[in-house]
Amino acid sequence: MAAPSRPGAPGLLLCLLGGAIAAAWGSAPPAPQICSGCCAGSVRNGSAVAGFCGARAGAGLLGRCCLERAAVVGLDLGNCSLSQLCPSFREASTAIVIDLTVNQLEPPPEDAFRGFTQLQTLALPVELDCPGGSNMWDNITTQGHIRICQGQRNPCNGSGGLGWLCPEDSLCAPDGPGLPQCLCVGPYHGYKCLRQGTFPYLLFYGTLGAVTIGLSILLWVTQRRKVKAS
Ligand SMILES: *[C@@H]1O[C@H](CO)[C@@H](O)[C@H](O)[C@H]1NC(C)=O
Ligand SMILES: *[C@@H]1O[C@H](CO)[C@@H](O)[C@H](O)[C@H]1NC(C)=O
Ligand SMILES: *[C@@H]1O[C@H](CO)[C@@H](O)[C@H](O)[C@H]1NC(C)=O
Ligand SMILES: *[C@@H]1O[C@H](CO)[C@@H](O)[C@H](O)[C@H]1NC(C)=O
Repeated sequence: MAAPSRPGAPGLLLCLLGGAIAAAWGSAPPAPQICSGCCAGSVRNGSAVAGFCGARAGAGLLGRCCLERAAVVGLDLGNCSLSQLCPSFREASTAIVIDLTVNQLEPPPEDAFRGFTQLQTLALPVELDCPGGSNMWDNITTQGHIRICQGQRNPCNGSGGLGWLCPEDSLCAPDGPGLPQCLCVGPYHGYKCLRQGTFPYLLFYGTLGAVTIGLSILLWVTQRRKVKAS
């Protein structure tokens, strides 16, 4: 009887390879969930997002989004019967214009807009305040049932700025409306930027290696003696 051959293995490999190539070739980057998974329909005609997207070269509408090179630059969730922001809202952190009007929205959590550093125009139901507070926007206007927050300010800047909260050896950087973050500078890292230098890998692994070798030799010597003695 011949040895069992394994015709499956090369076939499986080819199949996997083919699948990978097809996936890389055929599929565009996946559309963000937020564009269709949060609210049906498309960007509303005449909305701020529609106007913004039409004027922006290289941008196009997809569902509720205005996309530019697969990144969300505009998001219209107006008239979506939303009471809360969808979990996928974070995918819109690259947005420049967002419309959340005509919804019975509860006030969103304080850091709902964390990472939304590009956001320049935010339209809200008039009951809601601009995120970060009125100090964090250049211009806040109301028109009927709509509040418009325009021109996001740098939360690290000036008298209203929160930059002083950052510990020494760190720099304040904006991370959304009214949301500063502290970035360590220079050689400092770790908790409150208090550690200096990089982790001493060579010393650590060198010591570990030396101890291991030393123990091995010790064991070898002692065990050999036992063997000889017996
Ligand atoms: C929106 O605009 C497009 C093109 O301008 C038009 O075909 C469509 O009917 C409009 N939809 C509504 C609901 O007005
Ligand atoms: C909201 O959408 C509904 C249809 O889904 C439409 O009848 C209504 O006019 C819209 N309201 C506003 C204010 O756009
Ligand atoms: C702020 O709003 C006023 C109208 O209330 C407008 O004239 C002005 O151009 C706006 N400024 C900015 C920076 O958008
Ligand atoms: C920071 O504040 C100064 C003066 O208060 C202002 O001129 C400047 O535009 C502000 N920069 C940013 C990024 O907000």
